[in-house]
Amino acid sequence: MQDPDLDVYLLDSDLTAALRADARAGLTATPKTLPPKYFYDARGSELFEEITRLPEYYPTRAERQILTDRAASIARVTGAKTLVELGSGSSEKTRLLLDALRDAGTLGSFVPLDVSASALRDAVGTLRADYPDLHVRGIVADFVNHLEVLPDTGDRLVAFLGGTIGNFTPAERAPFLAALRARLQHGEWFLLGADLVKSPAVLVPAYDDAAGVTAEFNRNVLHVLNRTLDADFNVPAFRHVAVWDAGHEWIEMRLRATGAQRVHVGALGLTVDFADGEELRTEVSAKFRQDGLTAELTAAGFAVRHWWTDAEGRFALALAAAV
Ligand code: SAH
Ligand code: AVI
Repeated sequence: MQDPDLDVYLLDSDLTAALRADARAGLTATPKTLPPKYFYDARGSELFEEITRLPEYYPTRAERQILTDRAASIARVTGAKTLVELGSGSSEKTRLLLDALRDAGTLGSFVPLDVSASALRDAVGTLRADYPDLHVRGIVADFVNHLEVLPDTGDRLVAFLGGTIGNFTPAERAPFLAALRARLQHGEWFLLGADLVKSPAVLVPAYDDAAGVTAEFNRNVLHVLNRTLDADFNVPAFRHVAVWDAGHEWIEMRLRATGAQRVHVGALGLTVDFADGEELRTEVSAKFRQDGLTAELTAAGFAVRHWWTDAEGRFALALAAAV
């Protein structure tokens, strides 16, 4: 269906086709895995917003603190006319950037891009009402496969906030950063939010909160499989697990079968057996160090001009130029 508010490069049918391929590959692999982008149906996007308000989930508050302190500098340094946001979700924190760029007098348009049409539609509706002078155009697309759809206006600042860069594996990060750099002109800007390595005593509760919201977010991917691929996962039989992998410096979210489970995925004609205690990896959330992330950005053709953290050093914003 045509959506008057959004440019849709990823139809529900495209996402379902991608899920079919990813589910077949991931559920027949050892260990079993699923990519994290399928968390974000309408319910998953709502649950993520709920996560951002949890006392244990510090990244959103820490990044908001940095943006509050630095948005005026970001506006002054970049002088951006177009702000593009990848994986924009609700674009809630992004308002700090929009306000600063508007106050600096440079901003003409905002282009949020997300795989979740529902989150994007809500965000675009409220942003248009709150920023009547701004041209706001939402793009439903996959930031891995569709970066060529970004408008080539020149004078762009591309923001990738929230630490979503950590949801790539290292092997996925390098081609993503290189592809983004290839879409930018020399002198355009990239603002990257990254969660930093810290004590597991802080990290693990952020991904295993007392209220069980992250557990529900994690299990939501099974509802997506049941609904979209006619599967019959017994959702409550899978336990949420969050572990800190010190070797890779990432949090891993998994779903652990409590008791042996046999699952039919009707749309794939596939039967999947889980042994008691067997785990399905649903997400990695990598945590970064300044040296490592700067090296990755440099290798991709960016020059990091600023590196800011919150007062407690939990989260970083890197402002990098395409060189
Ligand atoms: N930037 C927001 C939201 C982070 S949640 C914040 O900082 O709070 C991650 C967002 O990325 C979700 O809105 C999800 O729908 C989106 N996303 C995940 N994988 C994606 C992909 N492959 N392409 C585009 N968007 C994606
Ligand atoms: C979107 N992304 C940065 C979140 C994270 O922290 O890795 C997703 C999330 N997973 C569990 N809680 C939040």
